[in-house]
Amino acid sequence: MKTTNYSKIAERYDKNPYRVNEIYFDAELNEVINKNSRSEYHVLDLSCGTGLYLEKQKGYFDKMAIKWYGLDLSEQMLQKARDRLKNVDLILADVENMPYQSDTFDFISNNYAFHHYRNKGQALDEIYRVLQKGGIYKLHNIAIHEMPNW
Ligand SMILES: C[S@@+](CC[C@H](N)C(=O)[O-])C[C@H]1O[C@@H](n2cnc3c(N)ncnc32)[C@H](O)[C@@H]1O
Repeated sequence: MKTTNYSKIAERYDKNPYRVNEIYFDAELNEVINKNSRSEYHVLDLSCGTGLYLEKQKGYFDKMAIKWYGLDLSEQMLQKARDRLKNVDLILADVENMPYQSDTFDFISNNYAFHHYRNKGQALDEIYRVLQKGGIYKLHNIAIHEMPNW
């Protein structure tokens, strides 16, 4: 298992241009919105880090009725997210014990973090619990063959 102390590297995390530049319009989130007609969508960025994904997607989906959430285990990473984001519900918590009610989210994104989770089975159980039935969990991780600039 990969162990990294994100609280120690939070200050320099966003200085990696690759991290910032590789976040695109989330086509799967768009699909969820197009397929389901709701008055409001609930979208969680799990292990949101410094808020890079949330900042970009909030810009792309700014006309949509989406309530945005971010959760992370590192207070220092979250502080960066707080500095850059408005109107996002950001909380300090462990994926293995999330303080959300069951059946809350239409969509959960999870970028570059799953390999850090200590008990991956417990993490998946929690993700399944907080996801609405029919909701989408999108796990994205390092895939070096698809990352020519890595
Ligand atoms: C490589 S960073 C990815 C951050 C962000 N998703 C991104 O794409 O920039 C991994 C993140 O996972 C978080 N993390 C690690 N273990 C966690 C856990 N058990 N629960 C919640 N977040 C965790 C770290 O604090 C860190 O912010």
